[in-house]
Amino acid sequence: MAIREKPGPAAETKVRGAPTALTTVLIIHGPNLNLLGQREPEIYGRTRLGDIDRALKALGRELGLKVETFQSNSEGAIVDRIQRARGRAGALVINPAAYTHTSVAIRDAITACDLPTVEVHLSNVYAREPFRHHSTIAGIVVGRIMGFGAEGYLLALRAARRMIETKQGAADA
Ligand code: DQA
Repeated sequence: MAIREKPGPAAETKVRGAPTALTTVLIIHGPNLNLLGQREPEIYGRTRLGDIDRALKALGRELGLKVETFQSNSEGAIVDRIQRARGRAGALVINPAAYTHTSVAIRDAITACDLPTVEVHLSNVYAREPFRHHSTIAGIVVGRIMGFGAEGYLLALRAARRMIETKQGAADA
C-alpha cells in the first residue's frame, strides 16, 4: 500500500540552496522493519518498507532535502551507518525498532556524531507491553513521533527540515 502526501506550496516549504551535507537527512530503520507489510500488520500496518522509503524520497525532493535510507537487522551495522553520517548529514530520523529498548551503542553513536535526531515508531509503544516503554535514545533526541503508522516517517521528515532550517538560521546569524 502506497503512502502519499499532498504536495505543499514548494516555494514555502523548500530549504534554501543546492543539496549539501546539511540538507541531507539519513533515515534508519532497525531490525525486522524489512518485513513491514507482512509482519503483524494489525500493529504495524500494511505499508511496505520500500513504499515508505519512496514516499520519503519524494517528500524530500519537495522539501529540497536529499534523503538517504538504510535498514539493518544488526546493531553494529546501524552504529557504523550513523558514524558514516558524521559531518555528512544535517539530521537523522531513526526507528531503532527493538534496539530502542536496549541499545546504549546506538544512543552513544547519535551523541558522538552530533546529529539532531527524530525518533519514530509506527506503533504507540506506551499502549503496548511495559518493556517497550523505555527508550535508550528518548533523552538525546530532539523529539519523538509514534502511533501514526507509516505516516509518522513523513511527519519526522518535516520535523527534520525544521531542525535543518534552525541550524541554517544559526549559521547565517
Ligand atoms: C517499533 C516498536 C518496537 O517496540 C518494536 O520492537 C519494533 C517496532 C515501532 O515502530 O512501533 O520493532 O519500533
